[in-house]
Amino acid sequence: MPTPAEDPARNGSTGRARPDPSAVATTASPAQARPGLAQLATYVPGAAAGTLAERSADGRTAPLASNEHPLGPAPAAVAALRDAADQVGRYPDGAARALTEAVARAHAIDPRLVLTANGADNALTVVGLGMLHPEGEAVVPVPSFAAYRTASLLAGATLRTVEIGDEGLDVEAVRAAVTPRTRVVWLASPNNPTGAALSRADAQRLLDALPAGAALVLDEAYAEFRDDPALADGIALAAEGAPVIAVRTFSKAHGLAGVRAGYLVAHPTLVAELAKVREPFALNHLAEAAAVAALGDTEHLEAARELVARQRPALIAALEARGARVAPSQGNFVWADLGVDAATAASRLLDHGVAIRPGGAWGRPQHARITVGTPEQQALLLEALDAVLPHCPTSTGAPQP
Ligand SMILES: Cc1ncc(COP(=O)(O)O)c(C=O)c1O
Repeated sequence: MPTPAEDPARNGSTGRARPDPSAVATTASPAQARPGLAQLATYVPGAAAGTLAERSADGRTAPLASNEHPLGPAPAAVAALRDAADQVGRYPDGAARALTEAVARAHAIDPRLVLTANGADNALTVVGLGMLHPEGEAVVPVPSFAAYRTASLLAGATLRTVEIGDEGLDVEAVRAAVTPRTRVVWLASPNNPTGAALSRADAQRLLDALPAGAALVLDEAYAEFRDDPALADGIALAAEGAPVIAVRTFSKAHGLAGVRAGYLVAHPTLVAELAKVREPFALNHLAEAAAVAALGDTEHLEAARELVARQRPALIAALEARGARVAPSQGNFVWADLGVDAATAASRLLDHGVAIRPGGAWGRPQHARITVGTPEQQALLLEALDAVLPHCPTSTGAPQP
């Protein structure tokens, strides 16, 4: 009698025995990844919109966990994706010249300052691998975007982790963490998850503290939602010759999170070096076509900005009316201390079709990051919070995954 693994009826029609896949997990001496990876965790994204639709009782959903564009992709970008579909049998342009030039035109800068990437995440990895090494240090603010830690550890750099607070950016603390061995200071402006952004004066204070050859990486994934004229603009700083690497994305204000397109702006000699680290065809045909079209669709971008400008204060006021403490935000999201265990609240909200991001991953078990949504999405969120919050326990303070 054949074992299940040898049974041809279970293994297709060839009759050849295949190994039992479950045996792979118990192999005695598997190949091992390098030891440093033990310090890293696999990135856990927010609940996907599809999961929400399955959980919602009445079909209404509010996907407010991933800071996406509430109105979806620019119609021009979707049309460009369709038009580009028949090119996918050929390699894309490795230098992504069309997008590089479109980005340069949009910001009135020289294309040699621009390096496109497979999303801002990819740009951050390229910066980490291109700037850092085991003898260098990276200043990593917390709470902030997890990719800075990952990119620094992948390059073998020493981390200098610094608390920047939940309201505002403690720039003095960041400055104090800079040493002669610093190679990179990572900073998101607006910061994910807190929404705080860096002023021009504070950017200058950080730049003054940097040792020669180091860079201030300004992750401006949410730049389009900033509305305070006193804030630093990483692209302008890089274009003026400051040691700044500005990182931008098409995932947020342009609504293209699913195609993966982003870029960095830095001094041309640094861009030429970092281009060696980027994989050869980082930007595929579809992503490049969609991103170029999205840059041209200023109406869609304006719609996102206007919606956030209108809905953000309404969301903050509604959360505060429910007893939450909410930090001021320059992004398309808010950081709220809900006063209860946020992981419990987030998991119960899913049954109402609502996704928010609990703060446990940032060591803030009572906080949640909530994306600014459409009026309908925010109404559903508030309805669900009213049903869920009174029955949630306060946090035990135990760290959550
Ligand atoms: C601050 C920050 N930087 C970068 C990214 C990554 O953006 P992308 O989708 O382009 O990889 C995100 C995504 O959430 C973010 O919040």
